Amino acid sequence: MTELPAVSFASLQPEPKSPTAVYFVTEGEELPPPIKRLDKASAGAVSRAIEVAGFKPKRKNLLEILAPHGIKAARLLLVGIGDAKTLTHRDWMDLGGVVRGKLPKKTTEVDVVFAGVDHLPEEAPLGFAAGFGLRSYTFKKYKSKAAKSADGGEEEQDEGRAPPKLSIFSCWGDKLAAKLQHTEAALSGVYLARDLVNEPANILTPPEFTARLRALEALGLTVEVLDEPKLKSLGMNALLAVGQGSAQPTSVVVLRWNGAVGRSAGDGNIVFVGKGVCFDSGGISIKPSPGMEDMKGDMGGAAAVAGAMATLALRKAPVNAVGIVGLVENMPSGTATRPGDIVTSASGQTIEILNTDAEGRLVLADLLWYAQEHLEPKLLITLATLTGAILVALGKEYAGLFSNDDKLASEIVEAGAESGELAWRMPLSKKYNKMIDGKFADIKNIGARDAGSITAAQFVQRFVKNGTPWAHLDIAGTAMASPSTDINPSWGSGYGVRLLDRFSAKFHETPATES
Ligand code: BES
Ligand code: MN
Ligand code: ZN
Repeated sequence: MTELPAVSFASLQPEPKSPTAVYFVTEGEELPPPIKRLDKASAGAVSRAIEVAGFKPKRKNLLEILAPHGIKAARLLLVGIGDAKTLTHRDWMDLGGVVRGKLPKKTTEVDVVFAGVDHLPEEAPLGFAAGFGLRSYTFKKYKSKAAKSADGGEEEQDEGRAPPKLSIFSCWGDKLAAKLQHTEAALSGVYLARDLVNEPANILTPPEFTARLRALEALGLTVEVLDEPKLKSLGMNALLAVGQGSAQPTSVVVLRWNGAVGRSAGDGNIVFVGKGVCFDSGGISIKPSPGMEDMKGDMGGAAAVAGAMATLALRKAPVNAVGIVGLVENMPSGTATRPGDIVTSASGQTIEILNTDAEGRLVLADLLWYAQEHLEPKLLITLATLTGAILVALGKEYAGLFSNDDKLASEIVEAGAESGELAWRMPLSKKYNKMIDGKFADIKNIGARDAGSITAAQFVQRFVKNGTPWAHLDIAGTAMASPSTDINPSWGSGYGVRLLDRFSAKFHETPATES
């Protein structure tokens, strides 16, 4: 796993001493006093550089001044932040990512000075540190040494080379250090999820995924594994049908975190449910070859659940939470499920499998049954790379959100907006039921061509008992094959980890904690 950058906090000092120093410049205001001091010390080199480069302090504009005379820093980065008053936590994360991306590989330490900029909330340094950390992630374990040095873009960190140490100087001094623990826990959770999504399917098989989740016991999570014989005895035939063509055994893993103080068992758990299809070939309804390699990421829901549970444990969150994931491989073979096969799910509802590529909903159906039967949910959130149709509807910016509960839906939208992991609510309605009513069985696993993400969610809803608040995030567009952004250099984005962490922290923890 990529190492987290070490972050330290200190009070403002006349001139920090790392070879790389970062200062912020607000648009429409005079240069702040610390930069004026540097300008003086360098006999005007700083203001001349600003003039010659035509530097405008619009948000994310950077000016790099190398080896200025009379200044300790050999590399001075001026970072435009636009109008400081309007910057959100997410904007500060982006700025942390932008600065991180600008540092040459060999950088070992960087000083960032939050001084002379008015209107700064303490969220600013923390957001900056989070973005810096998110951008520092790499996944290069399968690059041989020679290839590693040949291909690496400047911004990328070599495997084995520690990321630069980040020292933050601000008027809050080291008071921010306690809050950094929350940021670091979330970063570790995101790194874990990204690693899982990026791993190829020959390595991250269901048994290997299971083993990596068992290892989370070290963080204080309770880990329970349900193996194939157990799943059979429970009647989880919908899930088992997905894996029956694979040489790899199917398993379900339950991760528990009991961090709520003074809560009685009857209060229930927040329960996260993740689709963990380690490879989705489509099965007998096989997918076309182009792009099939991306289906190693079809366990992005399970990865998000794992990352979120790890985060809660790492920051010892005062909440009772359970994560459950179904780990399975969807392959064609002589033992595979055929189109037309009928299975009886654990809930007792019978399912006609008309397309073996609509397998995610079969996984979720049985996981939801188990969650409601055994995990005492006060609410349920399913996360799944469920449909290509959600990419048609929302692209890669927003995940699709479906819910039977307005309060839960709005909490998720809010947690998404604050974490920058966006979710857009989509409709559910009985009106769609006729599209998935079965001909020979209770329900069929595909609708018609239209409204593919909605009929999938509607299918999943049939396995949620009336009255249980449930929300579903279709993350097929946001979890994998992700575009590079200021804060995400990774193919697997880790989408969902920070949203769930925020969701828990803001709405379901006692005593309320801040992040
Ligand atoms: N895992 C796919 C959905 C997916 C597509 C994830 C693109 C990530 C990127 C899912 O199992 C699937 O194959 N869905 C089908 C459903 C259809 C057969 C009703 C789809 O979206 O085409
Ligand atoms: Mn599929
Ligand atoms: Zn799938």
